[in-house]
Amino acid sequence: MHLGAAWYPEHWPETRWPEDVRLMREAGCTVCRIAEFAWSTLESTEGHYAFDWLERAIELLHANGMKVVLGTPTAAPPAWLTHHHPDTLAIEPNGRPAQHGNRCHVNPSSSTFLKYARRVVEQMAKRYGRDTRIMGWQIDNEYNRVDYSDDTRRKFQSFLKERYGTLDALNAPWSTAYWSQTYTDWNEIPLPIGPHNPGLMLAFRHFVTRTWHDFQKMQCDAIRQVAAPEQWITHNFMGWFDAFDHYVICEDLDFASWDWYIGTGHHDYTRTGAAHDLTRGFKRKNFWLMETQPGAVNWAGINTTLNRGEARCMAWHAAAHGADAVLYWQWRPAHGGQEQLHGSLLGADGQPRPFYSEVQQLGRDFAAASAALEGTSPRNEVALLHSYDARWSLNWQRHHKDFDPVRHLELYYQPLAARNVGVDVISATAPLDGYKLVIAPALVVLPDATVAHLTAFVEQGGTLVLTVRCGQKDAHNALFPTLQPGPLRALAGVETEEFYALESPVPLTASWGATTEGESRLWAERLRPLAETTETLAVWGASNGWLDGHPAVTRHPVGTEGGQVITVGAVLDDTLQNALTGWLLERAQVEPVWRDAPAGVEVGRRIGPDGRSVLMFLNHTRQEVTLTLPAGGGERRDLLTGEAFTAEFSLSGYGVRVFSG
Ligand code: GAL
Repeated sequence: MHLGAAWYPEHWPETRWPEDVRLMREAGCTVCRIAEFAWSTLESTEGHYAFDWLERAIELLHANGMKVVLGTPTAAPPAWLTHHHPDTLAIEPNGRPAQHGNRCHVNPSSSTFLKYARRVVEQMAKRYGRDTRIMGWQIDNEYNRVDYSDDTRRKFQSFLKERYGTLDALNAPWSTAYWSQTYTDWNEIPLPIGPHNPGLMLAFRHFVTRTWHDFQKMQCDAIRQVAAPEQWITHNFMGWFDAFDHYVICEDLDFASWDWYIGTGHHDYTRTGAAHDLTRGFKRKNFWLMETQPGAVNWAGINTTLNRGEARCMAWHAAAHGADAVLYWQWRPAHGGQEQLHGSLLGADGQPRPFYSEVQQLGRDFAAASAALEGTSPRNEVALLHSYDARWSLNWQRHHKDFDPVRHLELYYQPLAARNVGVDVISATAPLDGYKLVIAPALVVLPDATVAHLTAFVEQGGTLVLTVRCGQKDAHNALFPTLQPGPLRALAGVETEEFYALESPVPLTASWGATTEGESRLWAERLRPLAETTETLAVWGASNGWLDGHPAVTRHPVGTEGGQVITVGAVLDDTLQNALTGWLLERAQVEPVWRDAPAGVEVGRRIGPDGRSVLMFLNHTRQEVTLTLPAGGGERRDLLTGEAFTAEFSLSGYGVRVFSG
């Protein structure tokens, strides 16, 4: 487990650096991230590179026992570049160029920009690619820009030509006869600004993905050409941010990282765990928390400060979900920078802020538990499927303004998290071996390959849950010529005869668990069983007349291995959703990491390839709680305090205990 912060030595006189690094060391930092916005200091004018200062900063960190993560500075191109090459500026959807100076102002596919970006990265790679003081690289920072220039439009048209081959092959799946959109020349195809043809919009997101993929690959290649194999490459993503398909971008990275901020309010572990699990799912590997909030941010509606102890618990929560490092953003705010009031470890006076002591505690924690966590990761039997195509498609046509696909996924995630059932959030195309229960939340776009592997999963005995809005569209974002769930109808033994966006909840009666009466919010689907073996698990009560008495939830047994598909045509209220979760876990024989933990207590587990495991008990509440170890399990030692327990043990408010065994 690494602990660290983002440090910007270029903001400060060099005489100050030793004090900063001493304070980092005393906080227990083992890693420091530098240089990710330092282009104007590294190359003050075109071709005049200055690495001496960076060299001295790296050496100082090394001399104090810290490893370095080197950021490539391409998210903050210098003023001279913009001035001499205004064509590098991104064009906004309104046709105006982005403003220089707030970083990320460039078009990531501008050939001029790519030329300069490649040069500075090559210079860095040449100097540091074989430097053992450098652990690894972060490419750029939080990719986000989408460019709308004429140049990008031409590139998009070439991308479409490469993908579709002929205009006929594009016009047909996009139904371009609709509103006379039929294209007779590739040059006629526009960039979608605002709502547009569903096929065009989806293809444009794939093009944006390709743009960032190529931008990143250029940098990865420049580094890997010279770098030692031990140096890894990552990028700091933004959780659920969806401008591009992260699974594609992650193909070229060694592992994924992300930046996690709460903004206003406090931590809800039953939701944020899903974002950690999403990031772990990008590469199906542990990840780094490359940035997180040291108390407060500066950009939220109300920049509330995390309670004392809350951030430590959050850091352990990240670890429980597979983070191998936690880095705070940032070490100290530049007096004149844009983010003056953001949380930091040191204040404007260069002295530790109150939050620093919490980081020191984490430093002690990680030092004590790091060896036990080495090589371990979460291993789960439940998967939630995630697809950018589906999310884009739904967000473009929500049909109910409050139908947020991420929120919908979280509705399935939350009761699992509250029961301490570990979950993998993975691409809908990822292999499903080893899972007992797979949930497909609103998987509206369903490519053939996904149909094939979901079918194989169920035929081999898996339990598949299809929620509302599954299987309505093909890989071009066009409607299937069948009703939902399209090509999965036979497997599900049911189809959606009609769907209803709801102004107010509608009643249904369910036959699982103890609670039978409940309601559906936002959405309702009238299901029609297609097989005699399809069992109705819930029925709509009286509402709009169309739904009344029709199936709302069904189960269809498949094959001889115990496979089954549960189709949930409702967005259930919390009580029914919770009961359904319990019923599904029982049916699919999934065990929680820990049974009967008090409310608000999370128990995470990481397992090593040798079977060795580490249990993390995290009290996300402010009240002290008591837990009991299973009888006859022997003694457990808290790696953080050295205390040993055989029966009961306590967790203080926001308390953490880590047991190996
Ligand atoms: C992140 C960004 C950091 C910093 C931080 C402030 O999105 O990567 O550089 O701006 O937000 O919360």
